[in-house]
Amino acid sequence: MYRRYKQELAMATKEISKVFVQMREVVASDKSSNVFIVVGASGDLAKKKIYPVLWELYKDELLPTHTYIIGYARSNLTLDQLQERWAPYLKVSEKEQGKYKEFIKINKYCSGQYDKTSDFGRLDKMIADIGNCNRLFYLALPPSVYETVTLNIKAVCMSKSDKWTRVIIEKPFGRDLDTSEHLSNHLSSLFREEEIYRIDHYLGKEMVQNLMVLRFGNRIFSPIWNRDSIASVVISFKEPFGTQGRGGYFDDFGIIRDVMQNHLLQLMTLVAMEKPPTTAAEDIRNEKVKVLKSVPPITIDNVVLGQYVGNPDGKGDEKQGYLDDPTVPAGSVTPTFVTAALFVRNERWDGVPFILRCGKALNERKAEVRVQFKEVPGDIFSEGKVKRNELVIRVQPNEAVYMKMMTKSPGMSFDCEETELDLTYGSRYKGVKMPEAYERLILDVFTGSQINFVRSDELYQAWRIFTPLLHKIENEKPKPIPYKYGSRGPAENDELFAKHNFTYTGTYKWSPSKI
Ligand code: NDP
Ligand code: BG6
Repeated sequence: MYRRYKQELAMATKEISKVFVQMREVVASDKSSNVFIVVGASGDLAKKKIYPVLWELYKDELLPTHTYIIGYARSNLTLDQLQERWAPYLKVSEKEQGKYKEFIKINKYCSGQYDKTSDFGRLDKMIADIGNCNRLFYLALPPSVYETVTLNIKAVCMSKSDKWTRVIIEKPFGRDLDTSEHLSNHLSSLFREEEIYRIDHYLGKEMVQNLMVLRFGNRIFSPIWNRDSIASVVISFKEPFGTQGRGGYFDDFGIIRDVMQNHLLQLMTLVAMEKPPTTAAEDIRNEKVKVLKSVPPITIDNVVLGQYVGNPDGKGDEKQGYLDDPTVPAGSVTPTFVTAALFVRNERWDGVPFILRCGKALNERKAEVRVQFKEVPGDIFSEGKVKRNELVIRVQPNEAVYMKMMTKSPGMSFDCEETELDLTYGSRYKGVKMPEAYERLILDVFTGSQINFVRSDELYQAWRIFTPLLHKIENEKPKPIPYKYGSRGPAENDELFAKHNFTYTGTYKWSPSKI
């Protein structure tokens, strides 16, 4: 049994390595030169995510062969100083030192203002000096400068030859329907839709990408994926830490804009959409937009708002509440925890609650989709023994798909008990490297794939669903319910779950199998 398992594992790992080799071949066969411009190179996102990801891709030989990287920001920095900023976030082993030196050589830095066309002119010259290249601009910037920067890119930095120019934009894409529409109109007046890549990094996560395969690559799920069999769907995002000095940004946006309106809604869309005719980007995005169109705006009676307070018995940061963060305005009523029930008014889903929940400073780190099925009709076993099935897709940490189900208690007994069919990635795909979401997404942009990026009409629908709630919260300033740092959030959350047909029994016990 153990030997067979090892053989299967080796085969699966070999398959995945083959895919890596194929990806490398595709990348190596691309003979065109590329310049990746990190606009906002001195900032937090650039140092913590973008440069480390570019290094990972370079190290794994997944960055197209002739690629150069230019950092652009206001700070007057040398390349060495820039490198010192990102260095703490990069992993470079002893044997990778030589490769890391080569990576540094493909980097350059250009200091310039965001509103000075002449500075972008210098950037354009730096790009042109490299050669006739494809140009990929990553806007790792505060949204307040998106408009000026994109105007300057369009004015002087577009490719002047047959090479492409692509622009990656980070969320937040606006603050509400109007501001988002304003930004969309601005961008579409400068670039074609296929040149704009609106990034939602959740779309680059392994298990999020797996949702399409699980749903449409398995015959067993499609007949039960509807209101006849499914009681509710819970989509959760939990973080065990607070604002950590990002309180200023966070307070302005709040957790609905930070996580729910984008990451969680994307997950919901992938769970709820119809099967696209093909896996082409436009076919998939058409289905995503279609399902969003069937979702009415969220109403406040289907929402729980919470804000964390310090836990006097907690350790370190746990003693600090949201309002104790010096970067948070005194008396702020910005929620750090939100649960909202959404509905999809179409033939497949009418009446099935999609409960989205996200919170900071909670008891654990977890992102998952939990599909809870209805009770078995005409139950013949002892009353209350048979529990609802659940299909759980755990996005992070420790990726897994498990189906909670009933089985006969093994042995002489004819009792039934809860168990699970368990696909834990850590054991089934041991040793397989899971790329970071940003790695996949940056590669997608190089290859021109829009599958995992947000289209403008999708964005419009997302804001349509959330804007009335956001405006109500901003105008009426309801006081969020306090919950302790390190807890599961306000008790009212569980009440909302129960009201929306999610049954928690507390009887399920998981014992990881030992191989
Ligand atoms: P449970 O049914 O035991 O669910 C427990 C979770 O339900 C709680 O952690 C809690 O999570 C939530 N919950 C909802 N309502 C309530 C309530 N009123 N009171 C208390 N908790 C509530 O099953 P799980 O699927 O969560 O599995 C239990 C454990 O086993 C998990 O840690 C899971 O990761 C693990 N497991 C792992 C597998 C794997 O790695 N492959 C396979 C199977 C299980 P919340 O705070 O988020 O609401
Ligand atoms: C970001 C949010 O988009 O996602 C952060 O702005 C959040 O507040 C982060 O912490 C979570 O990402 P991940 O990949 O760590 O789940």
